Amino acid sequence: MATRTHTPYPQFWRTVGGRPASRRPGVVADYAWPEGERPLRLVVVGKGGSGKSVISGTMARLLARRGRKVLALDTDSLPGMAHSLGMEPLPLPPLMEAVDKTEKGCWKLKRGIGAVRAVERFSTEAPDGVRVLEIGDKSDGEGPALTPAVHAFYQIVHAIPEANGLKEWTMVGDHPAGPKQTAHDWAPYADTMIVVTEPSWKSALTARRLTEIAQERGNTVLPVASKVTGPGDIDLVQEVLGCPVVGSVPADEAVARTDRMGVALIDHAPDSPAVRAIDELVDGLVRGTIRGAVDR
Ligand SMILES: Nc1ncnc2c1ncn2[C@@H]1O[C@H](COP(=O)(O)OP(=O)(O)OP(=O)(O)O)[C@@H](O)[C@H]1O
Ligand SMILES: [Mg+2]
Repeated sequence: MATRTHTPYPQFWRTVGGRPASRRPGVVADYAWPEGERPLRLVVVGKGGSGKSVISGTMARLLARRGRKVLALDTDSLPGMAHSLGMEPLPLPPLMEAVDKTEKGCWKLKRGIGAVRAVERFSTEAPDGVRVLEIGDKSDGEGPALTPAVHAFYQIVHAIPEANGLKEWTMVGDHPAGPKQTAHDWAPYADTMIVVTEPSWKSALTARRLTEIAQERGNTVLPVASKVTGPGDIDLVQEVLGCPVVGSVPADEAVARTDRMGVALIDHAPDSPAVRAIDELVDGLVRGTIRGAVDR
């Protein structure tokens, strides 16, 4: 008897108008990386409030300072990554302009817009030259809903893995809280998931679930403990996760202070313990000294 393939979110697929492109994993590897450098295609995931946006935005800036072309991909319509990148808020999400509605009512990328063109036209610039593609924030209740930008973002991220013109780009994604986006393929550009967890059972259990999803997807998993106050916190996280963490970010008053001020941590507390810890993580990733706790 023939088995029926399960289509997650059939309504979504009908509206998007097709299935995601099949992957060609060789594209990134085809690029001749300089000695000692390696491609980085990362997405940062974890439970709500664990520190994903602080880590992803700061990592993107630090990677750009190392001379890389960096594309930051913000999947969360609530502004988190934008703050830690030090961006000015945009009046309207640029991706609202990237799609047209077909006669059947589907949102489709406009003619001639592939991944490269989309990044050129609809990404904005953050400090240090980071390009940012975001679903965007549109909470004013005026004008059309965010739906077109959501569809545009999904279609663009699914075109990225095959885009030759983007193969030398380093990518850092930030996911909203929890496993939904991760399970439903919102970061097909990433081969490595940074799973962020606070030192609490709830947070670490979410991280464990995310680690399982990442493994099912064939991703490398890099667990990172966040808001750490001492070695006991790391022990707790590792015990719940069942594997070692590859890095940790300390609980740092500077993060809370810059958050209260609505400014970027990296700009206003560049020497803070949190920035130093994230820089150490970036260094290990760039030099290849950090290996996944659960490698592909
Ligand atoms: N290392 C840290 N030390 C102290 N506070 C931190 C640290 N990292 C994050 N925070 C604080 O925790 C809160 C959540 O941080 P952040 O927005 O980065 O988390 P998130 O995982 O992206 O959250 P969300 O799931 O809502 O997107 C913020 O108030 C931030 O200031
Ligand atoms: Mg966030």
